[in-house]
Amino acid sequence: MPTPWIAPSILSADFARLGADVEAVLAAGADVVHFDVMDNHYVPNLTIGPMVCAALRKHGIKAPIDVHLMVSPVDRIVPDFAAAGATYISFHPEATEHVDRTISLIREHGCRPGLVFNPATPLDYLDYTLELVDLVLIMSVNPGFGGQQFIPTSLRKLGDARRRIDALGREVRLEVDGGIKVDNIRAAARAGADTFVAGSAVFGSTDYAQTIAAMRREIAAAGGNGKP
Ligand code: DX5
Ligand code: ZN
Repeated sequence: MPTPWIAPSILSADFARLGADVEAVLAAGADVVHFDVMDNHYVPNLTIGPMVCAALRKHGIKAPIDVHLMVSPVDRIVPDFAAAGATYISFHPEATEHVDRTISLIREHGCRPGLVFNPATPLDYLDYTLELVDLVLIMSVNPGFGGQQFIPTSLRKLGDARRRIDALGREVRLEVDGGIKVDNIRAAARAGADTFVAGSAVFGSTDYAQTIAAMRREIAAAGGNGKP
């Protein structure tokens, strides 16, 4: 399994001082910046786009940026995010007409493609695409808002996704997103996740470093290789 990554979702960061807040969370030990893009169409909320991603790069953020697209259509915005410095670009298969084409488009633009699964979406979309993606993201809340309650059935889905990835034998990150806290991250790790999005749990805490360290201890206790 790849080294566990903690991916704070900037949805819960202080947007009035985003660059500094992202710097602070990375200095506190985060591995990657989770960047939630919502369009008030695919999901009932509106957030940030490629200009903000480019602004973070211009500010000097060097860590991987994990763009989670909750938009429909998907393809129009992919080149813009690639130009803005995205590392991973993940999308919901229901949100695009041609899933395979969107995966190729992301790859052609030099980014790492990922597929995102809503709580009620089966993993069937992976039958003929898992070998093409670098990330599988299991939503443990319905997409659209930070600060929601973790949906327990996502643990079973993480396990199913882990088995598919292990059978493939190629490095594909397995990410969990929604309602992840210090007290349930161990269960998600045990179920097979190696990349952990946490928005409100990290940015809502008074000490980012302490929260991230506590999360790593929990991941390590699950039998993973919690960094450092
Ligand atoms: C929800 C987003 C998540 C969200 C997670 O649609 O995809 O990334 O920000 O926030 P928490 O960790 O607060 O559930
Ligand atoms: Zn997200």
